[in-house]
Amino acid sequence: MTSPDRDRHHHGSVLEAEVTLTRPSGAYDVVSLAVPSDPVWERCRPGQFLVLPGDLGRGEPLPTLLWVAGVSVDPLHGTAVEVVLPAAERHRLTDGRRHRLLGPLGRGFGLPAHPVPVLVAGHEAATVPLRWLVPLLRERGSEVHLVLSADDPDRHLDVGLLRRQAATVVLTDGAELGPTVARRLDEEQDVAVVYAAGSRDQVHELAGASRQRGRVSRVLALDLQEPVLCGTGLCGQCDLLVEAERSARLLRACLEGPVVPGELVADAAR
Ligand code: FES
Repeated sequence: MTSPDRDRHHHGSVLEAEVTLTRPSGAYDVVSLAVPSDPVWERCRPGQFLVLPGDLGRGEPLPTLLWVAGVSVDPLHGTAVEVVLPAAERHRLTDGRRHRLLGPLGRGFGLPAHPVPVLVAGHEAATVPLRWLVPLLRERGSEVHLVLSADDPDRHLDVGLLRRQAATVVLTDGAELGPTVARRLDEEQDVAVVYAAGSRDQVHELAGASRQRGRVSRVLALDLQEPVLCGTGLCGQCDLLVEAERSARLLRACLEGPVVPGELVADAAR
């Protein structure tokens, strides 16, 4: 089946990236990569990701998927791409080394055509794309309400940076993310769109809470914390059983998403 959205799907290619800077941030490292200039980076959006292929020689047989955390395109200094890695996996991207990566892959978040109040919600490392989405929403005049969850305070990513951008920020833990978002939607009646990221269960709950309250939602249907993901449509680990036109079908999140309308996952089997 084809859909007009297919045209907006960006197929990435293999690229050589050099690590230029690593900045520790709580439980994570924010890593800057110098990449060859390519128009694909100007179109890159929060929600797209990169694949660092496995390296048998270094005892890493499995690929690592990384959210793109930011892109800066500068004709003078070249193109820099930011990714975020758990500090425990620091050895996967070593300073000064060149790495072969695949991407950018997947379909990212679209932005509202007109400035509207929005609620952005996410859990731990899934908030990496949101950390980039929030300033883009602000640049376009949208008021942003944030709900961020983490089970360990160290796993909140760059909250200080986000606080400066958001109208309100509520911090909670993973189990309370859904109820907190539901409460905030009841309080902020003018919020028109919800952007959400987290585990499958969390995203399912947030999409359901938004729909129940008549709000549009866009969610990340891929949780990079899940093990053994390929990111390229081959393994099937990211499949979600969704209801569409009264029949169930499989949604392969890494290819069809990872950003999808929340209505699709609100009905997904868990
Ligand atoms: S992650 Fe392997 S098919 Fe989607």
